Amino acid sequence: MRLVLLGPPGSGKGTQAARLQKHFRIPHISTGDLLRAEVAAGTPLGLKAKEVMDRGELVSDEILLGMLEARLSQEDVVKGFILDGYPRNLVQAAALEELLNKINQPLDAVVQLEVDADSLNKRIAMRSAVQGRTDDNPDSVRKRLEVFRESTAPVSGFYEARGKLALVNGIGTLDKVTDDIQSAIDSVKPPESD
Ligand code: AP5
Repeated sequence: MRLVLLGPPGSGKGTQAARLQKHFRIPHISTGDLLRAEVAAGTPLGLKAKEVMDRGELVSDEILLGMLEARLSQEDVVKGFILDGYPRNLVQAAALEELLNKINQPLDAVVQLEVDADSLNKRIAMRSAVQGRTDDNPDSVRKRLEVFRESTAPVSGFYEARGKLALVNGIGTLDKVTDDIQSAIDSVKPPESD
């Protein structure tokens, strides 16, 4: 299973990817987590990315593609993967398609989680109080939502045109959302894939 989870900040991509990872026994690849690991390790890439992330903007496409290529060349992705946080714009979507075509591993499904802005803000405010993520402050969250609307939302059209997109309501219990994602995957994935 090769799956992409799309959705605005706070829509539950990370939460649901962690649950699906256990179900499908394939790795959850979060570009946000990969970047935060670089920041925590204090690498040059991490230092460069931190400022951009704290402002709620997108880190450069070049850096992201390099990170993704390195991650997708690891052995644990042979049975598939769940991508969370990539692609974030049309350039990244085209780069991912080219990369996956090159290794003959096209995506099976792209699920977009839909959550209203009010709920997103409440969820992120709650997480901020518990985890203190540096980009969970009101200014960065406003910017992240704007970036989603302007750059990431068009990505759903890219996948819709390829018959791979399914929309799922991200409001509800975690179990309900997971079940709905699984049904959504079944509705778009080719019958012969895992
Ligand atoms: P990233 O880490 O990807 O952040 P994000 O997209 O803003 O998403 P979040 O982690 O905020 O939310 P989520 O959808 O994963 O929701 P979650 O499950 O955590 O990216 C961070 C930054 O890195 C970007 O801004 C950018 O700078 C950079 N970056 C990353 N990828 C990039 C790329 N490809 N290109 C360029 N730059 C990139 O849930 C949120 C909260 O809600 C949690 O507290 C959770 O417990 C709760 N929750 C989840 N589901 C439910 C539910 N059903 N009901 C109630 N609460 C729920």
